[in-house]
Parts: sequence; C-alpha cells; structure tokens
Amino acid sequence: MKYDTRYPGIADLKRRAKRRLPNFAFDYIESGIDDEAGKRRNRQAFHNVHLTPRYLRDVSTIDTRVSLFGTEYALPLGVSPVGLGNMIWPGAEAALAVAAQRARIPYVLSTFSTTPLETVAQLAPDVCWFQLYVPRDPEIMDDLISRVKRAGFRALVVTVDIPVGAKRNRELKNGLKLPFSLTPRIVWQSLSHPAWALQTLTHGAPDFVNVARYRTDANLGLADFISSVTIRGLPLERLKRIRDLWDGPLIIKGLQAYENFRAAIDCGVDGAIVSNHGGRQLDAAPATIDTLRQLPADISDRLTLMIDSGVRTGLDILRSRALGAQAAFSGRSFFYGMGALGRKGADQVVEIFRDEITRGLQQLGSTSFQELNAGWLADASWPYPT
Ligand SMILES: Cc1cc2nc3c(=O)[nH]c(=O)nc-3n(C[C@H](O)[C@H](O)[C@H](O)COP(=O)(O)O)c2cc1C
Repeated sequence: MKYDTRYPGIADLKRRAKRRLPNFAFDYIESGIDDEAGKRRNRQAFHNVHLTPRYLRDVSTIDTRVSLFGTEYALPLGVSPVGLGNMIWPGAEAALAVAAQRARIPYVLSTFSTTPLETVAQLAPDVCWFQLYVPRDPEIMDDLISRVKRAGFRALVVTVDIPVGAKRNRELKNGLKLPFSLTPRIVWQSLSHPAWALQTLTHGAPDFVNVARYRTDANLGLADFISSVTIRGLPLERLKRIRDLWDGPLIIKGLQAYENFRAAIDCGVDGAIVSNHGGRQLDAAPATIDTLRQLPADISDRLTLMIDSGVRTGLDILRSRALGAQAAFSGRSFFYGMGALGRKGADQVVEIFRDEITRGLQQLGSTSFQELNAGWLADASWPYPT
C-alpha cells in the first residue's frame, strides 16, 4: 500500500486532524448548519445503498479511469472547492494542486481560496477547475471569469447553493473574520497547536486573495463577508451570461430540485455536481445520494452527473456510480488529510481512495469503473440489466 497504514481510512485522518488543528480551524472544516443533521444524513444515506457482488470473474486488472468533458482522469475522484484552505493548513491549496496534478484528478479551486488562482493554474495545468461564487456586481463577475480563462482553467463550476452566507454557530462562536484577525481566543488556540502556528507564521496570515481587490468592507465575519460579495440567488439571466462568457465545460454545483436541473440544461450547462455543500447550508436538504437516485433519464442523459457531500470511502464512489454519477468529489476528506499529516496528507487521501476504489471494484466483480451500473444495486430487479 502506498500510504501510511497508521491512518488507513479518512476517519483515522479526521481523528488526528482534530488533535493537531486549533479548534477554530477544525470547527471551520467540520461545521454543518443548525443541528448538523443534514451532514450526518449524507453519510447515513451512503450506508443505505447496498450493492450485490458478482464473483466467478477474473478481476486481476482494474481500470479506474474516467473521461470528463473530453479529458481523461486517472480516478473517478476529485477535490471539492474549499474556501480559506490555507487557514486550515498553511500551504494546503498549493499542496492539493500539486497532488491532484500528479494523481491526474480534478482539483476545484474555490473563489474564496487563499492562493491566487493564477498560481494554482500553473501548479495543476491539466486538472484545475475553477469554482465561481457569482459576484453580485456583473462587472466583477466578468473580470473574474476573464482572469480564470486567461489562467487556463479547464472547467468552470458555478456554485448556486449559497443565496446567503450560512449562519453556522461554531464559526460564529469562534469569531472568524477576514482579513484573518488575531482575537485572544484564536491566539490562545493557535499557541496550543505549535505545528500549525509555526507553519502559519512562515506562510503569513491567510486572506481571500482572488477577491480582495474587489472588497469594499473590511473586517466582516465569514457569513457577512460572503453575503456582501455574492449574488443573493442566481437568476437564470446571469447563468446565461456566464454560459456566453465561458466556452469551456460549464458545471453547476448545489442543485437538488428537478426543475432546477431542467433549467440548467436549457441554459446550456454541461454537468452538475449534486451537492448540498456538505450539509453546511440547509439542514433539511436531502442527502445527495438520494437526490442522485431520483434524477430521471431526461436529466441524467443530458448532464454529466457528479456528486459530493459525505463521500468518505472508495465504496461511496462506487455506490454513486451505480446510481448514475460519473465521478465523486470530497471537500473535508482532503482537509482531514492535511490537518493530520500536513502537506503530504493530500497524497495520503488520494492513495486511500485509489486503494478502496480498486479493491471495491474487485470485490464487486467489475473490471472497470465505467462498467459499474445500476445492475449492481441490491434492489435492482433480476435478471440484471447489462
Ligand atoms: C470548510 C469548507 C469550505 C467550503 N468552501 C466552499 C467554497 O468555497 N465553494 C464551494 O462551492 N463549496 C465549498 N464548500 C463545500 C464543498 O465544496 C463540498 O460541497 C463539501 O465539502 C462536500 O462535502 P464533504 O466535505 O462532506 O466531502 C466548503 C466545504 C467546507 C467543508
């Protein structure tokens, strides 16, 4: 195995990250909204998808490759966009970009990243996708999209599920503000985690570098900062404008309602990441694997479907495949890896998933990720569709 077997699963990395990170940084990753029931539901719903193994087959060679929007990736796994990455672990975004490029998996950089988008595009030229939080001001939006284009990003992911900055109580209690300010609570928590504090001193205080130039109000809490910059609900005319400006693959992230998928198709969107933001926006939202299961063929035939929110094992990715996803993404898993092991945590997470995807396919009796389909669902009717 090409990873540190003291931490063989994402859950092991999470436990170590909790110890190594200051509480405000761990809470920032871990927060869901309200009672955090949606976050738990995402996990539970994956457990509820049962697959029937098929034996009596040669599974010595396994093909994990996927083709997304005309580009081949080595695994059906990608890194979801996570804002403020370098606050969680200094240098995390650059390390993730390098690890994704090496592993040939998509890395989605957040609008609210703390590394300039131009730098990330250079580190991950073949695999970098850009996630757009749509700015309220159309001129700022146009400017941002043209920077993303110039930098060479391969796909644009428009996130639509934050019509307003979320009220996450853990974040509020910790008093996180941007630019990052050293409140006594944050100083105290940092000093009691010297590895993190030392790295942060070396890297400098994190800030939202991609949007700092457009900022008018300094010193806002996270939820208020997001509300102040982004559009309060994305009207379809704006989505059409984005389609006109961006001629590469256009992906929408965060939809869960049938009519929204239909509208996205009508606007010329190419793909969708079925997501509920990892349970961070609406505690009542359905688990994403349940939404995926419900999408009818008029959606799945016309959009490249992908999923995130609660993906923690290779088997979750295989479950998603059986329900129609071409690839699955995770946000927190990668940051548990960083929190646990520093920058080498990115490779550890990729290798854990690679191992679990490969063994999972062998166990299921499927020689390629592409081959896996709804016929493997335990509740599929017999004889299996092929
Ligand atoms: C700390 C944190 C920050 C996030 N920031 C963003 C962001 O900037 N843009 C975005 O589209 N989604 C953001 N998300 C949502 C992720 O892209 C993704 O949908 C979610 O993390 C997937 O769930 P998982 O963490 O359970 O794998 C964030 C999630 C977390 C945990």
